[in-house]
Amino acid sequence: MKALLSHAPGGPGTLRLEEVADPRPGPGQLLVRVRACAVNYPDVLIIEDKYQFKPPRPFAPGGEIAGTVEAVGEGVAGWREGDRLIAMIGHGGMAEKVLVGAATALPLPEGRSFEEGSALILTYATSIHALLDRGRLQAGQTLLVLGAAGGVGLAAVELGKAYGVRVVAAVSSEDKAGVARAAGADAALVYPRGPFDKEGARALSQLFKDAVGPGGADVVYDPVGGDYAEAALRAIGWEGRYLVVGFPAGIPRLPLNLTLLKSCDVCGVFWGAFAARDPAANAAHIATLFRLWDEGRIAPKVSRTWPLDKGAEAIAWMAARKAVGKLVVTV
Ligand SMILES: NC(=O)c1ccc[n+]([C@@H]2O[C@H](COP(=O)([O-])OP(=O)(O)OC[C@H]3O[C@@H](n4cnc5c(N)ncnc54)[C@H](OP(=O)(O)O)[C@@H]3O)[C@@H](O)[C@H]2O)c1
Repeated sequence: MKALLSHAPGGPGTLRLEEVADPRPGPGQLLVRVRACAVNYPDVLIIEDKYQFKPPRPFAPGGEIAGTVEAVGEGVAGWREGDRLIAMIGHGGMAEKVLVGAATALPLPEGRSFEEGSALILTYATSIHALLDRGRLQAGQTLLVLGAAGGVGLAAVELGKAYGVRVVAAVSSEDKAGVARAAGADAALVYPRGPFDKEGARALSQLFKDAVGPGGADVVYDPVGGDYAEAALRAIGWEGRYLVVGFPAGIPRLPLNLTLLKSCDVCGVFWGAFAARDPAANAAHIATLFRLWDEGRIAPKVSRTWPLDKGAEAIAWMAARKAVGKLVVTV
């Protein structure tokens, strides 16, 4: 089988499509023919050794896939050859075949494409955990979402609307603002791309404050970081919750006096660790996501696909801040 492999830390240009032996399913495992692998920002980081997890090399990036069962390992019940599934695998998805723990696989619903299926779990599960468990979001509140046309950002916009909140989307271009509005955002602001000097940072904060209104945001969802973080925190409301989700623009430092002034909370979000520590709560969220998907209240927005041999281009596209919704590598 073919796999897009990282042999040494580096950017997407270091990935090589190579022929490797087919993996064999051990007890409790499924051998899955990958049909689609969604791209996520962790793929940008993992190949450069900048992610929390550093798999042994060589490895293929690609943390979430959809495909069909090709072979079933010993002791597996409930899965048969040909079944369509979705799986979260951490890495290894940019390959023709992959091993999946049977207990962690989810059936891909009838009528849904492999592309959509591969693009569902990571972003929506991160955002539902962030908004409900960490953000304590309630209907009628105001939610400010940064990077609102990206993977996790757009999922937060849709989930915010599904839970009856006023969503203010913040993005770096008019095109992205249109995407966020189409996903249900009540308002959208376009921020500059930076870098920001003192004056620029003050103007950025005013942009956020004007958009959320005098009461401030009850919840700020921040998958962007960098200079955007402090400016957004300044637009939070009394007892608001600021959700730390990711840092494509850099790891920010926040002045703690701002939290005292607003009596607000800065909440870390780490969906992978949450799912490992509390599988039952995570499974309940995932069941909710499948229901919302079935009801048409959320739906993965796959904006572009690349074939496996061009998978590196998909990762480069995301690293260049060009991703809108989800990017998917088809196999
Ligand atoms: N905490 C968790 O459990 C968890 C789970 C999943 C993902 N994440 C993290 O969430 C972040 C977003 O992931 P994603 O898959 O949604 O990525 P994405 O689709 O690329 O979204 C990231 C957004 O960040 C903004 N951005 C600002 N500066 C950027 C830069 N220099 N390069 C790229 N984007 C930049 C872009 O929006 P604008 O251009 O509109 O600013 C972009 O849409 C990543 O840091 C990822 O590691 C965290």
